[in-house]
Amino acid sequence: MNNTPHIAIIMDGNGRWAKNKQKQRTFGHQKGAQNVRFVLKHCRKIGIKYLTLYAFSTENWTRPKLEVEFLLKLLEKYLKQELNLYIQNNIKFDTIGDISIFPKKLQNLIKTTKEKTYHCDGMTQVLALNYGAKDEIIRAIKKLKDKQNINEKIFAKFLDTKDLPDIDMLIRTGGEHRVSNFLLWQISYAEIFFSDTMWPDFTTSELDDMITKFKEKHRRYGGD
Ligand code: FPP
Repeated sequence: MNNTPHIAIIMDGNGRWAKNKQKQRTFGHQKGAQNVRFVLKHCRKIGIKYLTLYAFSTENWTRPKLEVEFLLKLLEKYLKQELNLYIQNNIKFDTIGDISIFPKKLQNLIKTTKEKTYHCDGMTQVLALNYGAKDEIIRAIKKLKDKQNINEKIFAKFLDTKDLPDIDMLIRTGGEHRVSNFLLWQISYAEIFFSDTMWPDFTTSELDDMITKFKEKHRRYGGD
């Protein structure tokens, strides 16, 4: 049994959470970003080694322009605000996804956040940014030179997640039961947990309950 699972979260429900409170969707994203902080600190505290969060998908560009701009600004604010949290808690920051399409200023901020936390080895927190699993796989295929000798292990080295272990637990909040183009290769044997809680309301005790259930599972990886 893996005692420190790699947890991936689809943080869904910000918009509906805000709408239920008669607020703008962007208010929900703001609260969602605050919850990232709580969940991250908690994961660090309980010894989780990898936490990968779906923050911006390749499909999110089709949202209204103002919402996209807000999400990018929120990411910028988050990185500036939380850098110390990462350093103080010995958390390495990393990303998956193609960030080359982001504004240069944001790309630089992402780069410096990675550099400043590169030495941290208590935990790795990955943000999926302009990430889509199909896009990741296509980009990996484009990098392949020797297609004849490819196998699963070699192919995985061309994915954005090349330095990360596969996902053990995939969590989706917000009540929908879908995977939404997230880490399709890496969740092959993940245990999947769905929660009806909207992301801004998702608590660390709900997470703890899921981890307890995960640890009770006997994972056979398709074998006996
Ligand atoms: C889904 O809510 C959420 C996203 C679009 C991505 C997650 C973004 C955040 C948690 C905030 C930013 C995070 C960081 C790290 C700065 P939704 O809008 O799809 O909600 P809905 O399904 O209720 O409409």
